[in-house]
Amino acid sequence: MVRNAKKAPETKEKSAAARKLLAWYDRHARVLPWRARKGERADPYAVWLSEIMLQQTTVVTVGPYFTGFLKRWPTVDALAKAPQEEVMKAWAGLGYYARARNMHACARAVSSEHGGKFPDTAEGLIGLPGIGPYTAAAIAAIAFGRRATVVDGNVERVVARLFDIETPLPKAKSEIREYAETLTPEKRAGDFAQAMMDLGATLCTPRNPACNRCPINGLCDARARGTEALRPGRAPKKAKPTRTGACFWLTRNGHVWLRRRPEKGLLGGMMEAPGTDWKTPLCHKTVKKLSQKDLEALYPRAPVAAEWRLIPGLVTHSFTHFDLELVVLAAATRKKLVPGGDGRWVPLDELHGEALPTVMRKVAMHAMPEAGALFAKR
Ligand code: ADE
Repeated sequence: MVRNAKKAPETKEKSAAARKLLAWYDRHARVLPWRARKGERADPYAVWLSEIMLQQTTVVTVGPYFTGFLKRWPTVDALAKAPQEEVMKAWAGLGYYARARNMHACARAVSSEHGGKFPDTAEGLIGLPGIGPYTAAAIAAIAFGRRATVVDGNVERVVARLFDIETPLPKAKSEIREYAETLTPEKRAGDFAQAMMDLGATLCTPRNPACNRCPINGLCDARARGTEALRPGRAPKKAKPTRTGACFWLTRNGHVWLRRRPEKGLLGGMMEAPGTDWKTPLCHKTVKKLSQKDLEALYPRAPVAAEWRLIPGLVTHSFTHFDLELVVLAAATRKKLVPGGDGRWVPLDELHGEALPTVMRKVAMHAMPEAGALFAKR
């Protein structure tokens, strides 16, 4: 139910917004690798794969990953059969690694329980691993032409402006969704969803929106009132805590010692340079200078006794709920550490093929600036 009846659009106006947007989309849709060309049917597997990859990741970053996955695993059955380790390696760098594990579990469920065919309604899709209400609606609309309303960050901004919604995000989410539902047409709901996304990404941008080129500028309440720069409002963000720790870059004969993180939890199942937990309160000091005593306190946490040297500076990385600062200690050893539960030797020139999360790529490049060239091989 739309609460603010005053602003609810007239039916005529509503259908005009969808009609105008679809006409605009027919001429200006972005060419993206997962989109069906005009007259072609969308491949549900490609739509699903793209929507999982696009959760919290930009279109530009996703492009090469999507193409690589589709080439290597052209069907959901092929992906279902792939070893988990290979999938994680191919995903490395996209972030939010639980998505990759859920994606793989979903491929297996579709392959074994649905005969390799994705359910064709939002209700049927929701509840498969990694598919929540947003992704279910997106796949139902884009791959199967169902009338479903898809609301991502871009769509939220378009709707908040179109109806000049004053309530700030995140409180406004349900209100925005209600308005968005009134706009969704019976036919071409998938194109409409993507038209809204494209409008938000290309014209109705967070800053300096190009209102003069917008196909629905005549219907936009925020434009009429001059409030477009203020919409959507946002409640002030809580400051993120900073966590700190140290990690150890141990090399031997062209190899580096890495270990696998536990399956569960942050960066589960990914590879890392061994280190302390990320609560160890030391890194802020390193900006000034880590004392000899601070360093000595770290040595017992190292995988092996060696001549550890501190690499000047810090590795910083921002996760969703905290910022991380790491100091890196590096050493070369001749000792023969035996690969086991806690680690293995990885050839440096094969580092780019490992399931290394972005923070660990940063660690590698901090310890060995030449590692940048290794990652460029992907
Ligand atoms: N973001 C999420 N899904 C998308 C799509 N299908 N097209 C463009 N951007 C998107």
